[in-house]
Order: sequence, then structure tokens, then C-alpha cells
Amino acid sequence: MPKIPSSVIPKHIAIIMDGNGRWAKSRGLPRSAGHKKGAESLKKIVAESIRQGVGYLTVYAFSSENWQRPKAEIGFLMDLLKSQIKAQLGELAKNGVRIKAIGDLQMLADDVKAAILDAEEVTKHNDKLHLQVALSYGGRQEILHAARKTAGESADFEAALYTSGVPDPDLLIRTGGEMRISNFLLWQIAYTELYFTEKLWPEFKEEDFLAAIEEFSRRERRFGTAE
Ligand code: FPP
Repeated sequence: MPKIPSSVIPKHIAIIMDGNGRWAKSRGLPRSAGHKKGAESLKKIVAESIRQGVGYLTVYAFSSENWQRPKAEIGFLMDLLKSQIKAQLGELAKNGVRIKAIGDLQMLADDVKAAILDAEEVTKHNDKLHLQVALSYGGRQEILHAARKTAGESADFEAALYTSGVPDPDLLIRTGGEMRISNFLLWQIAYTELYFTEKLWPEFKEEDFLAAIEEFSRRERRFGTAE
């Protein structure tokens, strides 16, 4: 893949990885096969982010609403998450990736939580790519949680968000053709550029990622000001 000039690389990219189920269905496969393939896409996009010098990547792996999916699918996703962390932690750590989970982590099973805490601990001194994995995450819940935490105190509201210390996303990519936000990073995307693509997440490749960055580089951002 060509290297994009660092001056036009978004500092923070957020991704709604949608379309795993439809990708599987269109091939007569179970939804789990779509998630498995989706995990491969994520691996490629993380590697490309490192190569291009993206500083922060935030991916929507499991929403608060996803708890309403069938038990078997939730179980599969959690096992996949745990096995992916275990299989890739060494390589990610070596490549300077810092892993952080954001969301209501109390909802997760102990073994999944343990794998996440281990990955966060092992990578805590890295700063090449900050990989935030949104798990059991809902934007409204995050805002309520921060509001409750800071109610009556002078503490900074943004510091109470799960994303404390992380710059807001410059670019949000959603795959799978739907044009909505689905409760992702509601506070943080106030001035984020949005990019929607019909491509389903399991078929989203490095060149699609670069096409999104290329379009971003042509957008004029004004942050609500006149010029
Ligand atoms: C949306 O597709 C995707 C998810 C709910 C899960 C995202 C998970 C991965 C990409 C797996 C790898 C990630 C980790 C962290 C292991 P969908 O099932 O909503 O697809 P549909 O809209 O076609 O039904």
C-alpha cells in the first residue's frame, strides 16, 4: 500500500465494523463465520494504521445493545475476542500498540475481563498506536456515567469519559451501508468527518481504508467557524 503523507493522516480514526452477519449470510455461512472473517479485517486495518502513522484507532467491537443478541452469538463473539487478544498480544505489543478497552466492562465475564486487563497491562508503555476497543459500549451510557461521576464536583467532564486523554476522532468510518451512528462515541464525534461505505466489514481491505483517508484529506474542516 502507498504511504500517505503524514500531514493528511487523521490522528484518530473510529470505525463501526458493520456487516459481518450479512457477509456470512450471502455465502450461506453462519454469522459466526462473518465475525471470524471480520477479526481478520481488523488485524489488517490495525497493521495498516501502524504503517500509516495513525495515532489512535477506536473500533466498535460490541455495543451495549449487542447483549440482546442470541446467547450463542454473544458467546462466540466473547470467545473470539479473548482468543484474538491472546493470539495477537505479542505481535501488537512488539509493534508499539497500546490496547485499551472502553465501555461498561463490569458486564463482561471474568475470563474476558482478565484477558483485557492483561493486554492493557502488557502494552501500557506503548504509544505508537493507541487501539481502543469499545466493548459493552454505549455512547449515552458513557455520557450518563461521566455526568454522575462529576455531578456536584468541579472535575472535568471529559476526563470522566472512557476516552479521557484521547483526542476526538477526526474521521469515523462505518462499513455495511447503514448511515447511522448507533450510539457510538456520541460526545466525541461532534466535529468528526463521517465516511460511509457499502463494503461489508469482512471485505473491507487496506485499499478501502486508504480511500476513506484520501476522501477525508479532501474535506474542509471548519469546526463551526466561518473560515
Ligand atoms: C457487526 O456486524 C459486527 C459486530 C457486532 C461485531 C464486530 C466484531 C468483529 C469485527 C470481530 C472481531 C473483533 C474483535 C475485537 C474480536 P453485524 O453482525 O451487525 O452484521 P450485520 O449488520 O450484517 O448483521
